[in-house]
Amino acid sequence: MNADLLKKLCAVHGVSGREGAIAKVILEEVKPFIDDHKIDALGNLIAHKKGDGKKMMLAGHMDQIGLMVTHITKEGFLYFSAIGGMRHTYMMGHRFVFPNGAVAIANCEGEVDLKDLALNKMYLDIGARDEADAKKYVKIGDVCVFQAEPVVNGDSFMSMALDDRIGCFIMIEALKRLKKPAFDLYFVFTSQEEVGLRGARTSAYGVDPDYALAFDVTLSADTPKAPKLPMKMGGGAAIKIKDASVICHPKIVEHLESCAKAAKIKHQFEVLEMGGTDSGAIHVSRAGVPSGVISIATRHVHSANELCSVSDIEDCIKLTVKALETAIG
Ligand code: CO
Ligand code: ZN
Repeated sequence: MNADLLKKLCAVHGVSGREGAIAKVILEEVKPFIDDHKIDALGNLIAHKKGDGKKMMLAGHMDQIGLMVTHITKEGFLYFSAIGGMRHTYMMGHRFVFPNGAVAIANCEGEVDLKDLALNKMYLDIGARDEADAKKYVKIGDVCVFQAEPVVNGDSFMSMALDDRIGCFIMIEALKRLKKPAFDLYFVFTSQEEVGLRGARTSAYGVDPDYALAFDVTLSADTPKAPKLPMKMGGGAAIKIKDASVICHPKIVEHLESCAKAAKIKHQFEVLEMGGTDSGAIHVSRAGVPSGVISIATRHVHSANELCSVSDIEDCIKLTVKALETAIG
């Protein structure tokens, strides 16, 4: 696996609505392998690889969760609004970094019981002495993300931005390996998934695909108190059956399963009771789009150290290539 590229993708700042920098990095990677591209009004990067056959849209979201500065106190502390599903338990004591390199610590005052903790009881400390000092580094509306180096630990990869740079990575690697695509392919690196699948909605309308496949992290239900669900780290490429946003089209689920079997790719099924990803918006676009999802079982989603299996990543890339080189009957 090209771990350097994955690390590079994870390190680029791209909070929802601010995907310009990550779109630029992805475009550099995919440009030699596509026929044309555009960035649409909502910041989606749409890369077209021409082919015969039906139109297939692939979607992986570029954006990541973060915090937006809403208020700077006289003492120089920052209050914030969460962009996407930030959890206070994951934030306590953690470092956050702004695009200009300024680093803040998330904290709250006193002995607060975890169950009494809430985002609005927390603040960011950028080390400023007062308001004027803080304003040298940040202004209202600036956004920051977890600061944490990506790490490879044997078969494990951990990073704060696996959701969903891992999806983008799988799409990029599959694009590079494709030999004979069976579809006219639109690789869409979407914006604003974490705040409600917004980029997927407009890009699906624009592309108007016959089929769609999304790529994202899913819960790895193998931690001590995880719900009784089938997904686990190291279980192979996860073929989504449903989550709270989509019931995947049987034709697509079957296509993915038969491709995995034919190419002897390790796979598992995903049934998720909450959550959702881009296909939640894509499948109800226009008159409807038969949609599926290839997921990667990930522990500690939305924390500073999301964790997934390197061998699962490889299985997802192989399954994607096979699924794009096999026509849907
Ligand atoms: Co997410
Ligand atoms: Zn995601």
